[in-house]
Amino acid sequence: MYESTEQWRAVDDYFVATLVGEDAALAQARRSSRDAGLPDHEVAPNQGALLSLLARMCRARRVLEIGTLGGYSTIWLARAAEHVTTLEADAEYARLARRNLEHAGVADRVDVIVGAAADGLDELIARRAEPYDLVFIDADKPNNPRYLEASLRLTRSGSVIVADNVVRDGAVTDPGSTDERVRGVRRFLEQVAADPRLDATALQTVGSKGWDGFALALVR
Ligand code: SAH
Ligand code: DHB
Ligand code: MG
Repeated sequence: MYESTEQWRAVDDYFVATLVGEDAALAQARRSSRDAGLPDHEVAPNQGALLSLLARMCRARRVLEIGTLGGYSTIWLARAAEHVTTLEADAEYARLARRNLEHAGVADRVDVIVGAAADGLDELIARRAEPYDLVFIDADKPNNPRYLEASLRLTRSGSVIVADNVVRDGAVTDPGSTDERVRGVRRFLEQVAADPRLDATALQTVGSKGWDGFALALVR
């Protein structure tokens, strides 16, 4: 469970009820993940809707997702694009994700690649995969720097890169952190900042998932 004040939660609930709407397939994806004992790490519904809107705003045809879990964010993305490639290390999670994608009617538009994302990305690079228009980085945070490098090789000018969980209750500001996830996020952000190919920002969020945030970058 995330630490989330009553008010943050109430506002998210209000926005979701008023604007976003989570249909039966999405609710089922969330519920099935909980029932199967997966961590509650999927994006909040209003963040899922943001991913979907971003994909449509940049007219993304092809989306790359790193970190599938039960396919919750994947459904949001697949509803906005022609194709999603999503990478997941855990075979059980991937199986559940495929079921949820089928239930949502988008399985034909999604490739779930099982295995360490770094290997899957190398394989896509080796195969000279057609460039992705939007990348959602949301897996093991210590590897974020690596995922950024791979993303840059798999995108084009105009592509968008979104990275989840860059705040972690504020831990991101600690340069001396020994938490590998925090170190991974910090190195990722420094890499983004230093890369002349990227224009970027980051936003912190509060809500049903506590205090966190995401980074957003545009490939020049
Ligand atoms: N994007 C999902 C949440 C992903 S949670 C959503 O919002 O619905 C992070 C996922 O990354 C977990 O399922 C975890 O198993 C996966 N993961 C962790 N390490 C990984 C690795 N090295 N390669 C691929 N996936 C990994
Ligand atoms: C964690 C990972 C996530 O992708 C997320 O959205 C929340 C938490 C984690 O590893 O703790
Ligand atoms: Mg996340």
